[in-house]
Amino acid sequence: MLYHNLNTKMKVGSAQFYLSFLLFLFSSAHSHVESFNEEKEDIKRSQFPDGFLFGTATSSYQIEGAFLEDGKSLSNWDVFNHIPGVKNVENADIANDHYHRYLEDIEIMDSLGVNAYRLSISWARVLPRGRFGEVNPTGIIFYNKIIDSLLLKGIVPFVTIHHHDFPQELEDRYGSWLSPLMQEEFVFFAQNCFKSFGDRVKYWTTINEPNLFSEMAYKKGKYPPAHCSKPFGNCSVGNSDLEPLIAMHNMLLAHAKVTKLYRERFQAKQGGFIGMVVCAFMYEPLTDNELDREAASRALAFKVAWTFDPLVFGDYPPEMRRYHGSELPRFSPEEAKYIKGSIDFIGINHYSTQYAKDCIHSSCIQGGDRAISGFAYLAMTGMPTFFVVPRGMEEIIEYVKKRYHNMPMFVTENGYSPPKQEAEQVQDQLHDVKRIEFHKAYLASLARAIRNGADVRGYFAWTLMDNYEWVEGYSLKFGFYYIDRQTLKRIPKLSARWFQNFLTNSSHSNEAGSFKGQNVIFSGLEDKKAEM
Ligand code: NOJ
Repeated sequence: MLYHNLNTKMKVGSAQFYLSFLLFLFSSAHSHVESFNEEKEDIKRSQFPDGFLFGTATSSYQIEGAFLEDGKSLSNWDVFNHIPGVKNVENADIANDHYHRYLEDIEIMDSLGVNAYRLSISWARVLPRGRFGEVNPTGIIFYNKIIDSLLLKGIVPFVTIHHHDFPQELEDRYGSWLSPLMQEEFVFFAQNCFKSFGDRVKYWTTINEPNLFSEMAYKKGKYPPAHCSKPFGNCSVGNSDLEPLIAMHNMLLAHAKVTKLYRERFQAKQGGFIGMVVCAFMYEPLTDNELDREAASRALAFKVAWTFDPLVFGDYPPEMRRYHGSELPRFSPEEAKYIKGSIDFIGINHYSTQYAKDCIHSSCIQGGDRAISGFAYLAMTGMPTFFVVPRGMEEIIEYVKKRYHNMPMFVTENGYSPPKQEAEQVQDQLHDVKRIEFHKAYLASLARAIRNGADVRGYFAWTLMDNYEWVEGYSLKFGFYYIDRQTLKRIPKLSARWFQNFLTNSSHSNEAGSFKGQNVIFSGLEDKKAEM
């Protein structure tokens, strides 16, 4: 089997350590500038530990389509995207039609040379009515076929149980994640996944990015059920200061109950591992001022530690307790017992770095001066203008490593989409030199973190093929493959060739070096300063 024991820590030799130390001195001296050398550093697969998982990541709603086929019910996203007048003009009714083309997609992955694939299970396909109905056998068959086909190719399935989509009925009946009843729903769903797929799936993550989902669905009102209040957005219902905290609390407890179940009933027999995935941006202080430094550190606590502190230590971060009043929920002593230590590994989705500015002592716009925002205003990139800051990868890994005692980690997502206006011509999209440079630079940064002793076990590029990017529809494109939206043909971009070379041919791992002459412009985080 390709998976390996999560308890075996990587050993760092003294020479490596010395090299890391030199690198550390070098990078701290350059901590506020984009280092050209950093971006151009060569990167080879052999720089990663043996057995390291390299794959691509996707999620059910974003690629499957077949939104009403073979017994699947409507999900929260299906319904949201069909509400007349909702700003989303696009939907994922068909998406990439992966439901019918999964074999071709697995062939493509195999041709790239990956040894793992991160996918998610559509809750509405497996349990169309949650606990209120039967398991849909066709849904189980579909994921069985995927898992078996992957294993036949030697590709490890790395499965997210819940990635933003759930049966609409759970929203209609009791308001989904705002209700503690959703915890039991999730346990039921996960239990069915373990029963049906756990004999072959060894890596489970429970919920994808609960921190981002709470914020998008209940603070900004951009994801269903579109709840928010001013100044964060203009929704008909919601309370942006409170509801994200409640939704997150229910997701954390749901996760912990699932882990408890997995450990008590499945783990010994099935021999897998269970973790959670967060959206993990890195934050840098806007100025050298101590107040902005504190704002950056608060931002990390309010975003990343919000999820992981409870799962590792049994309570919300002290930084959050300090600034939130009674609105920050408490874990009962019994809950604290089973939530503490409820992950075998940490998953981080890392894309970019943002500036943080203090909002305790100075005024801020857009709700930066509220407890729910950690009293920090963040240079919000939004999808279309991600900043490319490769050193952020090393920094966020270092933060997680230190805070959580170097628990095993996976980079469960990392990827690049050009800003919308840049990606108009198909030929330009296929000639995606910037994406190659992005992955090379972020991988080099990850390799540095590993040389510094971080226990990282895998890297998943987001994403295999351009797909439905939530509220941005199909306009943002993170894929190694271009999808012709008329024919749904998968067309490899230059980056697919690069990734394949990186994975399969170590002596040619610098294939993208042939693009070095291109004028690759990394979008500068520095430019954002002027706007803040
Ligand atoms: C985070 C999410 O997990 C995924 O669904 C999304 O498409 C990517 N990052 C890119 O935004």
